[in-house]
Amino acid sequence: MTTATPVLLQLLPLPFPEAQQRLAQRFDLIELWKEQDPDAVIAARQNEIVAVVTSAMTPTSAKLIDKLPNLRAICSHGVGYDAIDVKHAQKKGIQVSNTPDVLNDCVADLALGLLLATARRLGQAERYVRSNLWSTDAKFPLGVKVSHKKIGIVGLGRIGMAIAQRAKGFDMEIRYHNRRQRTDVGLTYEPSLVELAAWADFLVIATVGGPDTRHLVNDDVIKALGRDGILINISRGTVVDETAMVNALVSGELGGAGLDVYESEPTVPDALKTLDNVVIVPHIASATSETRKAMADLVAANAEAFAKTGNVITPIPPL
Ligand code: DGY
Repeated sequence: MTTATPVLLQLLPLPFPEAQQRLAQRFDLIELWKEQDPDAVIAARQNEIVAVVTSAMTPTSAKLIDKLPNLRAICSHGVGYDAIDVKHAQKKGIQVSNTPDVLNDCVADLALGLLLATARRLGQAERYVRSNLWSTDAKFPLGVKVSHKKIGIVGLGRIGMAIAQRAKGFDMEIRYHNRRQRTDVGLTYEPSLVELAAWADFLVIATVGGPDTRHLVNDDVIKALGRDGILINISRGTVVDETAMVNALVSGELGGAGLDVYESEPTVPDALKTLDNVVIVPHIASATSETRKAMADLVAANAEAFAKTGNVITPIPPL
């Protein structure tokens, strides 16, 4: 690194002022969201920019990367990186960091929250009380027991493991499907996703998004999970064939779904909004003040480390 203040292109603000300040202390910041004509600003300063701050939900394309010939680091706020062309960046020798680990607890907590809410009909029960149906003759339908059931986890990474740990607390039987069998966990591996779905009462999706996992949970998997099964998705909407899932929920071929993510966020299929066997929330798995602060701090720490040493702290391994 030279001694001149390095220039950082920031595509979105960090959600905590202290973290934002840390960036401002180390870098000459281009705060793109404040610019009237972002393309013109990028064109005018493209040769100066050495780092970019982005997020899991902010598209960071090969086209943008190619506009910045001196780019050396991309620091992203979030664990998922399907919105960033990481392969392209890495091919050009650009480091890309994300914010792993600091959000595992909250994402796993939400997975279990959605599972409980769907199985025990918590959303529907709330609506029942709020609309004064409790004091009438209307009967509230029975839910599904959660403890001692069979849970299938799709994607046994760090978040998948945190979900497994919580499932143990509910005395559940646990199996998983993964790209590779893990030898470091005492859990049963199921190489066939259809078989896992057929076995499970609850199927929880915790795998990465992107082209490699698009529609991994297809019609066959959904039908195998079946009319008594519940699908939970806290990973990416693209992993599930949403049309097949909606059709199965409407026809009763799938028992229920608890969803944090959707194929075309923030658009949620209207049918999902009308179904009582579905719990839908707006991509909030990591959205607690503690976790979002830890994520913002880690983005700042990655950018600072890059400015100081030339290396980020939590690089995404080569894809
Ligand atoms: C992530 O970090 O990838 C989350 O899904 C974004 O909130």
